[in-house]
Amino acid sequence: MEKQRGTFSNRLGFIAAAAGSAVGLGNIWKFPYEVGENGGAAFLVIYLFFAFVICMPIMVGEIAMGRNTRSNPYGAFRKLGGKKWGIVGFIGVLSGIFILSFYNVVAGWAFGYFLQITFGDLLGQSDYSAYFGDYVAHVSDNLLYSLAFMVLTALIVIAGVKKGIERWTKILMPLLIALIVGLIIYAITLPNASAGLEFYLVPDFNNVTGKTYYMALSQAFFSLSLGMGAIITYGSYISKSDNIITSAALVTTADALIAFMAGLLIFPLVFFQGIEPTEGPGLVFVSLPGIFEAMGPILGKIVGGGFFLLLCFAALTSTVSLLEVPTAFVTDETNYSRKKTVMGLAALVFILGLPSMLGQGAVGMFTEFMTYGGETKSFMGVVIDIFSDIGLPLGGFLISIFVAYRWRTHRAADEIEQGHKHFRGSWGEKFFNVVISYISPIVVGVMVIIIFLNKFTGLDILGGL
Ligand code: PHE
Repeated sequence: MEKQRGTFSNRLGFIAAAAGSAVGLGNIWKFPYEVGENGGAAFLVIYLFFAFVICMPIMVGEIAMGRNTRSNPYGAFRKLGGKKWGIVGFIGVLSGIFILSFYNVVAGWAFGYFLQITFGDLLGQSDYSAYFGDYVAHVSDNLLYSLAFMVLTALIVIAGVKKGIERWTKILMPLLIALIVGLIIYAITLPNASAGLEFYLVPDFNNVTGKTYYMALSQAFFSLSLGMGAIITYGSYISKSDNIITSAALVTTADALIAFMAGLLIFPLVFFQGIEPTEGPGLVFVSLPGIFEAMGPILGKIVGGGFFLLLCFAALTSTVSLLEVPTAFVTDETNYSRKKTVMGLAALVFILGLPSMLGQGAVGMFTEFMTYGGETKSFMGVVIDIFSDIGLPLGGFLISIFVAYRWRTHRAADEIEQGHKHFRGSWGEKFFNVVISYISPIVVGVMVIIIFLNKFTGLDILGGL
């Protein structure tokens, strides 16, 4: 018998939820430090190219797969492609669990920063870089805050797709955008801001290496929540009358825009304060407090606290989508109730996240967890390498191959056509077909090999291009 599955209330509901999934720490925490580490504006240009040309069609494919099968990623691949393809979907489900395990830790940092700025003495520290280093190595706070974050995520997922996921995004995302815009205006008037804008906006392709290309690709997948079935899962809840093409275009545009704005905010601050753009994962945590401090004790606490609080909400709509994937998998494929499933999965994810949390200086073994490709990585670094940097593009590659050569683009078109009557014969269809059948398999396929070699052997095939 068919089980009752939730649906979004209308098209805006899906767009809000998918944009909520896409917009998160990926845009505001990860994107700026990737730009900083990988050469600035050139990275931004390559990133935008990948997001719109490669990833947007893959998003269309994921939504279509989800809506056609009304299933989690495992069920979607299995229904359309048989048992063996089910494995690909299952790996996506697993990746979701691992990505959430570290994501939740970083979300805990953001939550802690909100508390420390608003109620503690974070603003006014003399060295924000040292503060961040101490902060993430501090086990008890991190344990508490990431636990709180996981519990909140679980409660929202238990409440279900409709009530839990849509509502907040619609209110809080516009608020976050407004605050970022306000801060950008402030940031670009600071001394030396122009050096930051130049770094971020004037490309210098001399510094581009193979790593620039593949990190831009991996970042695009991560930021758009693609390659592991989060969008398949959300797609399984949308109505047949929704236009998949315009939905994907809107979500991609909103996500890229917010990432772009985060860079406009961060780089003037980085150059104003003389911080190295290559600071790494601490970049936003190190560069933002100084500007809140400059606003004075009261305003700084309000604006700074507000910023990190809104960042937490953005992260929350992403953690919810990450937890929804394994939840949909278990509830679709077994008879466990949603509530029990969510509680079990949340506990599992939290435990899997502990080594990522402890590997920030607190426990040596997890801080220097493995050495390969000439670099020593923390536990979190290894999880990011495998499940995000390599795993998501690999998933995107497999989704393209699957849609083009197993499910077939004409069947995908049948699905897309519902809700978009003029899809067949349109330039949109041609673009989708060419990207899914040729451009994505070749470009993403080659990139996956390059990422793999570079990460594990240090070899940079595209070096100097
Ligand atoms: N896109 C989210 C972000 O940018 C992270 C995410 C990745 C969510 C993969 C779901 C799936 O923060």
